[in-house]
Amino acid sequence: MVCSHPNASLVNSRMLIAPTFSTSRSQIGGIAVTELAEKFGTPLYVYDQQIIDQRIADLKDFDVVRYAQKACGNLAVLDRMRRQGVVVDAVSAGEIRRAIAAGYSTDPSKHEIVYTADIFDRETLELVVKHSLPVNCGSPDMISQLGERRPGADVTLRINPGFGHGHSQKTNTGGQQSKHGIWHTQIDECLRRADQTGVTVTGLHMHIGSGTDLEHLSEVCDAMERTAKEVGRTIKTISAGGGLPVPYKDGETYVDLAKYYELWNATRNRLSEDFGHHVALEIEPGRFLSAESGFLIAEVRSVKQVGENHFVLVDAGFNDLARPVMYGSYHPISVAAKTGDAADREQADVIVGGPLCESGDIFTQREGGYVDSRRLPAARAGDFIVIENAGAYGFVMASNYNSKTRAAEVLIESGEAKLIRQRETFEDLVRGEVIPD
Ligand code: LLP
Repeated sequence: MVCSHPNASLVNSRMLIAPTFSTSRSQIGGIAVTELAEKFGTPLYVYDQQIIDQRIADLKDFDVVRYAQKACGNLAVLDRMRRQGVVVDAVSAGEIRRAIAAGYSTDPSKHEIVYTADIFDRETLELVVKHSLPVNCGSPDMISQLGERRPGADVTLRINPGFGHGHSQKTNTGGQQSKHGIWHTQIDECLRRADQTGVTVTGLHMHIGSGTDLEHLSEVCDAMERTAKEVGRTIKTISAGGGLPVPYKDGETYVDLAKYYELWNATRNRLSEDFGHHVALEIEPGRFLSAESGFLIAEVRSVKQVGENHFVLVDAGFNDLARPVMYGSYHPISVAAKTGDAADREQADVIVGGPLCESGDIFTQREGGYVDSRRLPAARAGDFIVIENAGAYGFVMASNYNSKTRAAEVLIESGEAKLIRQRETFEDLVRGEVIPD
């Protein structure tokens, strides 16, 4: 997927070529979809480790790659990230515990786990204090609350630069409508708060949204430079946040990574020169690292005609993958025939839906809940559909709505399919529920 960049003047001339999506598929990572479904059951999340490895390699220019584990936090995925030198971001006590369980060190000097949020809930503050974990503060109150418990701590600040952008209004994390980050005009107040408890601001972080574009991502560099100069020479790290998009449909592209790095590297170099010491450059992607590795396999259970519409109903619903119902997100969908090759089938315009008792349980919908049809090879009960690019914000946003048990997860590595999460059982579903006398 990596090829040489047409602009030879860029030092790291690499550009990712967007894939074209096929509507038929027989295998994932070299293993037949039918075999995966038979062995592990459906609905099933499958991750292809090779794709994650490639994406990690694509970001090698950055000093630190910090995985936003909220995108796909399975312990096995985190373990594989860790083995390749990728560190993690944690946004809750649960994510801190996940990172520790996956083998990440809590040694504060290593900065392997950083807690980023806009508040400390009480449980997380205790955990952060217990392990002396680095904190990226998204509100002035966090600086004071940490300072009271850990006077003299180093912190980084997540800044809202006053603008943002995302694939949906719900994933835009900058500007006045966003609850995220410290408003860019409040730096002075933050520094005063930090002084009260001897806290030092050693880094800045800006994440303006998820699924944005190069134009918006690069505006952040200027804002970062300005803010870093305002804070001054204590700054040792800057983080470009996450937000790198991946193509979900034909015609969509990746960000030009070489250009993106170039812009950030120039910003970092100017700051290093200004401060007279090296400033490290971090990036914090979630989607970019895991989205394309993930596939949700579902079995077709019924095909039916409703007026003029042809529905393909499968055993996965928005309890398994919430992105379409939540944001109107488009996911590539392919058909894997139970026998033979789906590519040989006639194509039909179909609506793909799930089993839930709710009309919004449709995978082919636009923002606003408008149902779309998709041209796919004709599917019958017993065939499989594969919802692609489902490795980021897929399983992690799954729920037990309609008392559905959550799917199993499988990792394909070196041609082998390994179970990394068991399918939930009814006992898991009712664990903790109590019927009082
Ligand atoms: N850093 C911070 C502070 C974030 O809030 C996020 C995402 C990331 C990094 C990673 O962003 P990414 O590289 O994945 O774009 N559920 C939505 C996405 C929500 C993103 C939340 N924060 C979706 O399914 O599109």
